[in-house]
Amino acid sequence: MGTMQTSIVFLCGTLFLYLFFIFIKFLHKVWWTPIQIQQAMRLQGIKHPFYRFLYGSTKEILNMRKESNGKPMELSHYIFPKIQPHCTLGSTSVSSLVSEAEFVKDIMNNKDKSYPKNEPDGFIKKLWLLRSADDIESKKLKQGICKSIIRTIVKREKAMNVKVDSFGNDFLGLLVKVNYDADEGKRITVDDVVDECKTFYTAGHETTISLLTWTVLLLGIHTDWQEKARQEMNMIINESLRLYPPVVLLPRIVKHEAKLGKFSVPANTTLVIPTLSIHHDTQIRGEDAQQFKPKRYSEGVAKATNNNLAVFLPFGLGPRSCVGLKFGLNEAKIALIMMLQRYAFTLSPAYIHSPIVMLTSRPQHGVQNPLADKWDENKDGYVA
Ligand code: HEM
Repeated sequence: MGTMQTSIVFLCGTLFLYLFFIFIKFLHKVWWTPIQIQQAMRLQGIKHPFYRFLYGSTKEILNMRKESNGKPMELSHYIFPKIQPHCTLGSTSVSSLVSEAEFVKDIMNNKDKSYPKNEPDGFIKKLWLLRSADDIESKKLKQGICKSIIRTIVKREKAMNVKVDSFGNDFLGLLVKVNYDADEGKRITVDDVVDECKTFYTAGHETTISLLTWTVLLLGIHTDWQEKARQEMNMIINESLRLYPPVVLLPRIVKHEAKLGKFSVPANTTLVIPTLSIHHDTQIRGEDAQQFKPKRYSEGVAKATNNNLAVFLPFGLGPRSCVGLKFGLNEAKIALIMMLQRYAFTLSPAYIHSPIVMLTSRPQHGVQNPLADKWDENKDGYVA
């Protein structure tokens, strides 16, 4: 056999081995692992709906959500079955809902790093054949966002050429500064800068908008609280975050087989903390759990929860909880104070109550609040 032929055989062999390895990894992830988890949980009495190859229970979940999204509901704050109808399935092949407070605390505190956040896994998406039109569109958008952030970074870098250390004192400026850190160990890449910008924008913007929207809805219904809000903002914001948490689920992955009470949970199981369902639970909150009663927070969150912070989770809990908690709350308070100083509002009869989740919880058709009267500080009252 000539050298050329040997090289071709070698290349084909390597390619074959590589594809075979990818195929085994793929099967392990989408078939073997879910089947193993399902089996282990079933033996402990936790049943999962039938697992289908590649899709798991996704089809049922999407159908239930689609059906629910299309239907408005009465003007009640008990939005759990409407917003998360699939949670009535209990568990899917690789995920289990955990709402017992002691388990929630264990998982979220993640002391021995057994329950990390599940980072997105691009492995399956990388298989070109499985890409949908949405995936392609989302890739284009991702590239657009990335280019726009890089353009801003380049502007800062040009400014730096003119004046040393002039990246700016804002968040982006601080990130670009670390990108140029003299200590290579501390330096972050441009990709890291872009990722951090995207995380902070999404995690910070969408959530605060969701909180503000739901609070305006609640104040539009319970107009008497608008006057009280001018004096006592925290109670209202906490009650809004309880009834309508912007982030309704907190997923964590089980790194190594773990014990949760009497259950032994296999590695790679996704545990989902159902924030919304915990917040609305009448056994935890009492019979008025689904009503708007800001007074329950009159002595703070700790008192309202009997010092059990695992039952109030709008910002998560533990070391990976929201880093923007104070910033987000202050932002929301400033926006609300500005609105309340200038306007009084009601809820429009045209409002359709149809809460849905698109990244964060939100009203499907927006919240319409006619701005009734203007608050006149000099007259200490409303003017027409
Ligand atoms: C009302 C406003 C907000 C709510 C309800 C909220 C809620 C949350 C929740 C539930 C998490 C996940 C915690 C977990 O998995 O345990 C989170 C994470 C995060 N939030 Fe917020 N957030 C808000 C505002 C903000 C703001 C204003 C910023 C930034 C300026 C921000 C930045 C982040 C970041 C970076 C993370 C990821 C933390 C990590 O993974 O370690 N959030 N937020």
